[in-house]
Amino acid sequence: EVLVISTPHDLPLFERLLRDGSQWGMRFQYAEQPEPRGLAEAFLIGESFLAGSPASLILGDNIFYGNTVGQMLREAAARETGATLFGYPVSDPRSYGVVEFDANGQVLSIEEKPEHPKSRYAVPGIYFYDRKVVELAKQVRPSARGELEIKTLNELYLECNELHVRVTGRGIAWFDTGTHESLLKASSFVEAIEERQGTMIACLEEIAYSNGWISKDDVRSLATQLGNSNYAKYLFQILQND
Ligand code: G1P
Repeated sequence: EVLVISTPHDLPLFERLLRDGSQWGMRFQYAEQPEPRGLAEAFLIGESFLAGSPASLILGDNIFYGNTVGQMLREAAARETGATLFGYPVSDPRSYGVVEFDANGQVLSIEEKPEHPKSRYAVPGIYFYDRKVVELAKQVRPSARGELEIKTLNELYLECNELHVRVTGRGIAWFDTGTHESLLKASSFVEAIEERQGTMIACLEEIAYSNGWISKDDVRSLATQLGNSNYAKYLFQILQND
């Protein structure tokens, strides 16, 4: 179950593209964020959608890839109390949230886009929260730039000793594609792997099928709707190889 949050301008385009998700055995709903009032506002906008459940927030411009990503996310989702963020080593963390650890690996602080980062561990845009998240998000006051900062929400978890940061190992690719340059880098990476291995990254029909959310016939009918494209050929190939 996914709630897609975007601007009033872009939301209908996402809805047209992704529909209600049933084609992939999923359920999508859509909600507007009328003004850019910060990431933590997602939990106020999504309050009735969540209806007291734990939640994961992922930023739409973040791309993750790697053999161990699925396992890493499943483990974070399985934690029943607190929040889980990730710490991903980057050469220049200044454009991200940055985690500061003490000598025992305990989290001391998270700074947003610091000029002088206290570590090289950036916080990627995927966050896991327990069922308290909406209640805590309501306590977040707007920052100087008028936004409900995700950093402040995370600090509330840190204050109750419930903020976990899992440092990611080597071999995981994380891209924030918020600039043209970074989008191009991510595209080159995806192209290189897809071309070399002959497999697609984030082919939603393939993922849904391998998770058992849709049947072989569903994949065949989705592929047929895609006409004479390489994407459709890939889907038919999956069915053939299965
Ligand atoms: C946001 C978060 C930042 C995080 C980044 C990941 O920043 O505020 O903490 O590291 O996403 O992509 P933004 O990229 O929206 O400026």
